[in-house]
Amino acid sequence: MQEEEFDLENRIVSTSYGPEDAESDLSLRPKTLSEYIGQTKTKENLKVFIEAAKMRKETLDHVLLYGPPGLGKTTLSAIIAAEMGVNIRITSGPAIEKQGDLAALLTNLSEGDVLFIDEIHRLNRSVEEILYPAMEDYSLDLIIGKGPAARSIRLPLAKFTLIGATTRAGQLSTPLRDRFGVTFKLDLYTPEELAQIVVRSAGILNIEIDRNGALEIASRSRGTPRIANRLLKRVRDFAQFENEGAITERMAMYALSKLDIDELGLDNTDRKMMETIIKYYGGGPVGLETLAATVGEEAVTLEDVYEPYLMQIGFISRTPRGRCVTRAAYEHLGLKFPEPQPRQSAEIPGQASLFD
Ligand code: ADE
Repeated sequence: MQEEEFDLENRIVSTSYGPEDAESDLSLRPKTLSEYIGQTKTKENLKVFIEAAKMRKETLDHVLLYGPPGLGKTTLSAIIAAEMGVNIRITSGPAIEKQGDLAALLTNLSEGDVLFIDEIHRLNRSVEEILYPAMEDYSLDLIIGKGPAARSIRLPLAKFTLIGATTRAGQLSTPLRDRFGVTFKLDLYTPEELAQIVVRSAGILNIEIDRNGALEIASRSRGTPRIANRLLKRVRDFAQFENEGAITERMAMYALSKLDIDELGLDNTDRKMMETIIKYYGGGPVGLETLAATVGEEAVTLEDVYEPYLMQIGFISRTPRGRCVTRAAYEHLGLKFPEPQPRQSAEIPGQASLFD
């Protein structure tokens, strides 16, 4: 199996943040809760918590956001800070290597500020231990020196709000999870919500689009605004090249088929992964690690990047013995689903079966 066939991060439907998303970041990101489309329940509850904290003139309780990548966890955190009227500092679990790195961040916060830690499940243990007293008592416990001369000092910190984001809430340690006052799960967006996001983004980017054009892009965006915005920009290129004034359903369908993104938002990489399971493992079950080795990817990447959507549309199922490609996926790929064979009887003629 050729590794380069599975170039995950360069996929147009990758949920990872890439260089082409930078422009979107500046202009397309909603700045207020009322501009933010979708995640209705989360938005409604956040509004209550933000307003209540403001009325009490208190800092907002620590917030944990979890869900698949590309759903707007960073955007939502920036909105929370803006609505609270405070600054936000953005970092990530892997970027904080030592206790001192976190101590530097914490001591630089002003009263009420938001510290956003993306991929918080990837914080190392020793850094995490610094975070507990910081979250609980707004204090920094540091050990100075080594051996018998070591002593601990406690420094007060400004009251702050930690917003942690993770794709895998299950991987957070219990003591860390317990220190968040509120937890919100972000869900994949509906095509209708994504269409609204596409129309909003098109307005900001000065692209003309009709409703069916927006819905066509939305329904191929795998429930993810980051993908919807990226597809919008690529479809715009085709519309411009073809001298079309506006993005219509026909134009969107034409452009997306040129980009090899099918009507469900699957690209060649998705199809190849499912075909690999079919070709080499008879459609499964195949263990995640074995599959990862066959396609030349890390197991966590398969789990975080591919599976949420393929499972959501019912194309991959997770069984105790491994991953299986479903009948719906076979049909989508134009392949015949192998009907389960009736069990062969091992009976010797004339001898009663043990299991009768
Ligand atoms: N752009 C990206 N995500 C968005 C959202 N949830 N609402 C509005 N615009 C967005």
